[in-house]
Amino acid sequence: MVTRTLNETDVYEITRIHLISFSTFFLTRLGESFLKFFYKSFLKHRDSIGFGIFDNTGLMVGFSVATARSSGFNKSLIIQNLNSFFFIGLKLLVTKPGSLLRLILNLSKKNDPRDDGDYAELYSIAVDPGKQGLGIGKILLAITEKAALDRGCKKMALTTDFYNNSDVVSFYKSLGYVVFYEFIAFPDRKMYKLVKTLI
Ligand SMILES: CC(C)(COP(=O)(O)OP(=O)(O)OC[C@H]1O[C@@H](n2cnc3c(N)ncnc32)[C@H](O)[C@@H]1OP(=O)(O)O)[C@@H](O)C(=O)NCCC(=O)NCCS
Repeated sequence: MVTRTLNETDVYEITRIHLISFSTFFLTRLGESFLKFFYKSFLKHRDSIGFGIFDNTGLMVGFSVATARSSGFNKSLIIQNLNSFFFIGLKLLVTKPGSLLRLILNLSKKNDPRDDGDYAELYSIAVDPGKQGLGIGKILLAITEKAALDRGCKKMALTTDFYNNSDVVSFYKSLGYVVFYEFIAFPDRKMYKLVKTLI
């Protein structure tokens, strides 16, 4: 196995793993080309932290993407890719207007009043379903946290589903995450915000 920093050329493999690991997630329903655009924009951002683990044939078996600075990240991502977001927004307006509304409301959602956004944030972590339970997710999370710590971050946070998600919540709790708060994502999806102190 090889572990390395992700770059823009990895978006095809990231998208492949995303599609099989998050088949029912909202972002997945926006389509493969949206996912490629999203991850490419993400990895180009100066605050992104991305790692992949690859098998001996070079095939990705898992990835994680995070930002070292949660506060203002979504806004900054959109501003840096304004033209592309504008055209994707226009396309969604015609093809999936409900999804466009959901995307805008969730991207612009204000945090809980207790949440100042002063932490690194894990946006996505996934391991190929055939390779789960072998310690790959644990390695990905550990190197992501170390990279965040090296950039001066004191905490790492993430959002995950409240319902039908006990395996994933157990994974995070076993690695030191605690519940920060619960909230409802638009339109009616109960979520946990989990957090871990890195130092
Ligand atoms: C969540 C995910 C990334 C975990 O990766 P993984 O490689 O399967 O997990 P690991 O094998 O590294 O497990 C690490 C630790 O988590 C704990 N853990 C993992 N699965 C668990 C489960 N079902 N119940 C309890 N604890 C669990 C174990 O304690 C394990 O520690 P150990 O090695 O000391 O036993 C992976 O299962 C996945 O891709 N799931 C689908 C995508 C997803 O939902 N991502 C999270 C979005 S918020």
